[in-house]
Amino acid sequence: MTAPQAPARPMPHVLNTYGRLPIALTHGQGCRVWDTNGKRYLDGLGGIAVNTLGHAHPRLVAALQDQVAKLIHCSNYYEVPLQEQLAAKLCEISGLSGAFFCSTGLEANEAALKLARKFGHDKGIERPEIIVYEKAFHGRSIATLSATGNPKVQAGFGPLVEGFVRVPLNDLAAVERVARENPNVVAVFLETIQGEGGINPSRADYLQGLRALCDRQDWLLMLDEVQCGIGRTGKWFAHQWAGVVPDVMPLAKGLGSGVPIGAVVCGPKAVDIFGPGNHGTTFGGNPLAMRAGVETLRIMEEDGLLAHAASVGARLSGGLKQGLEGVAGVVEIRGAGLMIGIELDRPCGVILQQAADAGLMLSVTADRVIRLVPPLVLSADEADEIVRILVPIVRAFLAA
Ligand SMILES: Cc1ncc(COP(=O)(O)O)c(C=O)c1O
Repeated sequence: MTAPQAPARPMPHVLNTYGRLPIALTHGQGCRVWDTNGKRYLDGLGGIAVNTLGHAHPRLVAALQDQVAKLIHCSNYYEVPLQEQLAAKLCEISGLSGAFFCSTGLEANEAALKLARKFGHDKGIERPEIIVYEKAFHGRSIATLSATGNPKVQAGFGPLVEGFVRVPLNDLAAVERVARENPNVVAVFLETIQGEGGINPSRADYLQGLRALCDRQDWLLMLDEVQCGIGRTGKWFAHQWAGVVPDVMPLAKGLGSGVPIGAVVCGPKAVDIFGPGNHGTTFGGNPLAMRAGVETLRIMEEDGLLAHAASVGARLSGGLKQGLEGVAGVVEIRGAGLMIGIELDRPCGVILQQAADAGLMLSVTADRVIRLVPPLVLSADEADEIVRILVPIVRAFLAA
């Protein structure tokens, strides 16, 4: 008897973890990318909020080529001056005090969760708990998927990590209730703007309320800025619009413009929680990734990309709002700067392929939200082009 055949898959050596489009990209320039057939796309996705400076930015390319030729990796057994340089810059722009470097967003969040637990243990709380959120996304390791508020991400991976209390976003009374009832809470952990959950911003007054509550309760305020940070909203960090300062801020994605990098940046309350031996990683903080971070932030500053992200983002969301005004089935267009979500009243995954056919890269998240997180170098003309391509696609999809 022959063994049952596994269903045929197009790429049998790569595990089947993504629903991929049948497109393979070969190269890019600015906000344009090309595929193996020579077809050109406008990049409204930026590698999911990663390619801050677009593709093949000449100053970044030159810096990375220089670094590759000098030193890519050397291990954390030695001093890495570029770590000091990047940490100093991150502290300057955030008002925080120190950084630990890793390579991805989930690692930055793992570090944050460990910081919170040790913060609790250090003050005598044996079973520390962390407040997390409905619709949150923090990564796909066992701890970060446990903190994530999406049953689809968690399904099949139980038992989940314990020690999380979940609340709805923007409901301060819910957090106050937890504060009254649960003496083991040590931290509040949320994305300043939820990304994978459908581009859901925390309100400014909510963040201010959380800051005050965390101060009163001696909790850590931990803001995951992995997706919404690094200039995307028009300030270095999205929480800066609310005038609050977190105690712990995980970063990744846009910080290296495409080179894998993560960081957890800590304020005075968190900067001394870890001591030698408490945390580590082989790749984190290597000279190549650090150079990418230093140069990304330098170029962003030199080229005024914060103000640019705010203005071109306003132009893009304004154009989308105008083009989709009064269209039945459009629930809301929201976000900040170049982090924009168009919520529809129905699942709209098919729009991915339709947009790609029309030469536009984007993503659909939380089933019903079209997400645009393009490179921050998107020009005004390119923003208008996104509107010109996307509006008719959405209108036709909703009319069908
Ligand atoms: C807010 C947020 N946190 C964490 C992560 C996980 O980052 P990574 O995929 O680099 O592990 C993501 C990824 O989408 C994210 O959006």
